[in-house]
Amino acid sequence: MQKRGDQRGHLCVAEFEKEIPFEIKRVYWIYGTAQGIERGFHAHKQLKQVAVAVAGSCEIELNDGKSTETVTLQSPDQGLVIGPGIWRVMRNFSEDCVLLVFADALYNEADYIRNYEEFLNYNVI
Ligand code: TYD
Repeated sequence: MQKRGDQRGHLCVAEFEKEIPFEIKRVYWIYGTAQGIERGFHAHKQLKQVAVAVAGSCEIELNDGKSTETVTLQSPDQGLVIGPGIWRVMRNFSEDCVLLVFADALYNEADYIRNYEEFLNYNVI
Protein backbone atom coordinates (compact mmCIF):
# COMPACT_ATOMS: atom_id res chain seq x y z
CA MET A 1 0.00 0.00 0.00
CA GLN A 2 1.10 3.50 -0.58
CA LYS A 3 2.46 4.76 2.73
CA ARG A 4 2.64 8.41 3.60
CA GLY A 5 4.23 9.37 6.85
CA ASP A 6 5.58 12.36 8.62
CA GLN A 7 6.35 13.28 12.20
CA ARG A 8 2.64 12.93 13.05
CA GLY A 9 2.45 9.27 12.06
CA HIS A 10 1.35 7.21 9.06
CA LEU A 11 -1.40 7.23 6.47
CA CYS A 12 -1.90 4.44 3.95
CA VAL A 13 -3.88 4.67 0.71
CA ALA A 14 -5.56 1.93 -1.31
CA GLU A 15 -6.81 3.24 -4.65
CA PHE A 16 -8.51 1.49 -7.55
CA GLU A 17 -6.07 0.64 -10.34
CA LYS A 18 -3.10 1.49 -8.15
CA GLU A 19 -2.86 -0.70 -5.06
CA ILE A 20 -6.22 -2.42 -5.69
CA PRO A 21 -6.43 -4.19 -9.09
CA PHE A 22 -10.25 -4.07 -9.24
CA GLU A 23 -13.20 -1.83 -8.48
CA ILE A 24 -14.13 -2.25 -4.82
CA LYS A 25 -17.73 -3.36 -4.27
CA ARG A 26 -17.46 -4.59 -0.68
CA VAL A 27 -15.27 -4.11 2.37
CA TYR A 28 -15.38 -6.30 5.47
CA TRP A 29 -13.12 -6.80 8.47
CA ILE A 30 -12.36 -9.65 10.79
CA TYR A 31 -11.38 -8.86 14.37
CA GLY A 32 -11.65 -10.18 17.91
CA THR A 33 -10.58 -13.61 16.68
CA ALA A 34 -10.15 -16.04 19.57
CA GLN A 35 -6.77 -17.69 20.19
CA GLY A 36 -6.16 -20.83 18.13
CA ILE A 37 -9.02 -20.16 15.72
CA GLU A 38 -8.55 -20.98 12.03
CA ARG A 39 -10.87 -19.39 9.48
CA GLY A 40 -11.44 -19.62 5.78
CA PHE A 41 -11.27 -23.19 4.43
CA HIS A 42 -12.81 -22.11 1.16
CA ALA A 43 -11.99 -20.81 -2.32
CA HIS A 44 -13.96 -18.49 -4.57
CA LYS A 45 -15.00 -19.14 -8.15
CA GLN A 46 -14.73 -15.52 -9.28
CA LEU A 47 -14.11 -13.21 -6.34
CA LYS A 48 -10.94 -11.14 -6.14
CA GLN A 49 -9.85 -9.76 -2.79
CA VAL A 50 -7.08 -7.77 -1.17
CA ALA A 51 -6.39 -8.37 2.53
CA VAL A 52 -4.61 -5.95 4.85
CA ALA A 53 -3.86 -6.50 8.55
CA VAL A 54 -4.53 -2.88 9.54
CA ALA A 55 -3.70 -3.84 13.14
CA GLY A 56 -1.87 -6.84 14.57
CA SER A 57 -0.90 -9.82 12.48
CA CYS A 58 -2.13 -13.12 11.05
CA GLU A 59 -1.03 -15.82 8.65
CA ILE A 60 -2.82 -16.72 5.44
CA GLU A 61 -2.12 -20.05 3.80
CA LEU A 62 -2.78 -19.98 0.05
CA ASN A 63 -3.26 -23.16 -1.94
CA ASP A 64 -3.81 -23.26 -5.70
CA GLY A 65 -4.39 -27.02 -5.70
CA LYS A 66 -0.76 -27.71 -6.60
CA SER A 67 1.29 -25.92 -3.99
CA THR A 68 0.82 -24.06 -0.75
CA GLU A 69 2.39 -20.85 0.46
CA THR A 70 1.94 -19.09 3.78
CA VAL A 71 2.06 -15.30 3.95
CA THR A 72 2.32 -13.37 7.20
CA LEU A 73 0.45 -10.07 7.21
CA GLN A 74 2.00 -7.94 9.92
CA SER A 75 2.08 -4.39 8.66
CA PRO A 76 -0.73 -1.97 7.74
CA ASP A 77 1.12 -1.04 4.54
CA GLN A 78 1.16 -4.63 3.27
CA GLY A 79 -1.68 -5.91 1.04
CA LEU A 80 -2.21 -9.46 -0.17
CA VAL A 81 -4.10 -10.02 -3.43
CA ILE A 82 -6.08 -13.25 -3.38
CA GLY A 83 -7.51 -14.22 -6.75
CA PRO A 84 -10.19 -16.77 -7.58
CA GLY A 85 -9.44 -20.48 -7.32
CA ILE A 86 -7.29 -20.16 -4.21
CA TRP A 87 -8.09 -22.21 -1.13
CA ARG A 88 -7.25 -20.09 1.91
CA VAL A 89 -6.82 -20.75 5.59
CA MET A 90 -6.27 -17.89 8.04
CA ARG A 91 -4.63 -18.63 11.38
CA ASN A 92 -2.39 -17.32 14.15
CA PHE A 93 -4.38 -14.13 14.56
CA SER A 94 -2.88 -11.84 17.15
CA GLU A 95 -5.38 -10.69 19.76
CA ASP A 96 -5.37 -7.18 18.30
CA CYS A 97 -5.59 -8.29 14.64
CA VAL A 98 -8.00 -6.39 12.43
CA LEU A 99 -7.97 -7.97 8.98
CA LEU A 100 -9.52 -5.62 6.44
CA VAL A 101 -10.62 -7.14 3.14
CA PHE A 102 -11.52 -5.35 -0.10
CA ALA A 103 -13.58 -7.39 -2.57
CA ASP A 104 -14.71 -6.87 -6.15
CA ALA A 105 -18.24 -8.23 -5.64
CA LEU A 106 -21.06 -8.29 -3.12
CA TYR A 107 -21.38 -11.26 -0.79
CA ASN A 108 -22.62 -14.27 -2.74
CA GLU A 109 -22.63 -17.70 -1.13
CA ALA A 110 -22.90 -19.30 -4.60
CA ASP A 111 -19.38 -18.06 -5.36
CA TYR A 112 -17.91 -20.09 -2.47
CA ILE A 113 -16.33 -23.52 -2.79
CA ARG A 114 -16.34 -24.85 0.76
CA ASN A 115 -15.56 -28.48 0.02
CA TYR A 116 -11.86 -29.27 -0.48
CA GLU A 117 -12.44 -32.17 -2.90
CA GLU A 118 -14.73 -29.97 -4.96
CA PHE A 119 -12.03 -27.28 -4.97
CA LEU A 120 -9.41 -29.72 -6.29
CA ASN A 121 -11.78 -30.87 -9.05
CA TYR A 122 -12.83 -27.29 -9.85
CA ASN A 123 -9.23 -26.17 -10.38
CA VAL A 124 -8.48 -29.03 -12.78
CA ILE A 125 -11.24 -27.90 -15.18
P1 TYD B 1 -16.99 -16.71 5.86
O1 TYD B 1 -16.62 -16.11 4.55
O2 TYD B 1 -17.37 -18.15 5.87
O3 TYD B 1 -15.81 -16.46 6.91
P2 TYD B 1 -14.32 -17.03 6.97
O4 TYD B 1 -13.93 -17.55 5.66
O5 TYD B 1 -13.53 -15.86 7.40
O6 TYD B 1 -14.27 -18.09 8.01
O7 TYD B 1 -18.14 -15.82 6.50
C1 TYD B 1 -18.59 -16.01 7.82
C2 TYD B 1 -20.07 -15.69 7.86
O8 TYD B 1 -20.32 -14.32 7.54
C3 TYD B 1 -20.89 -16.53 6.89
O9 TYD B 1 -22.10 -16.87 7.54
C4 TYD B 1 -21.18 -15.58 5.76
C5 TYD B 1 -21.17 -14.21 6.42
N1 TYD B 1 -20.67 -13.15 5.53
C6 TYD B 1 -21.55 -12.21 5.03
O10 TYD B 1 -22.77 -12.23 5.30
N2 TYD B 1 -21.07 -11.21 4.24
C7 TYD B 1 -19.76 -11.13 3.91
O11 TYD B 1 -19.35 -10.19 3.17
C8 TYD B 1 -18.85 -12.13 4.41
C9 TYD B 1 -17.39 -12.09 4.06
C10 TYD B 1 -19.36 -13.12 5.22
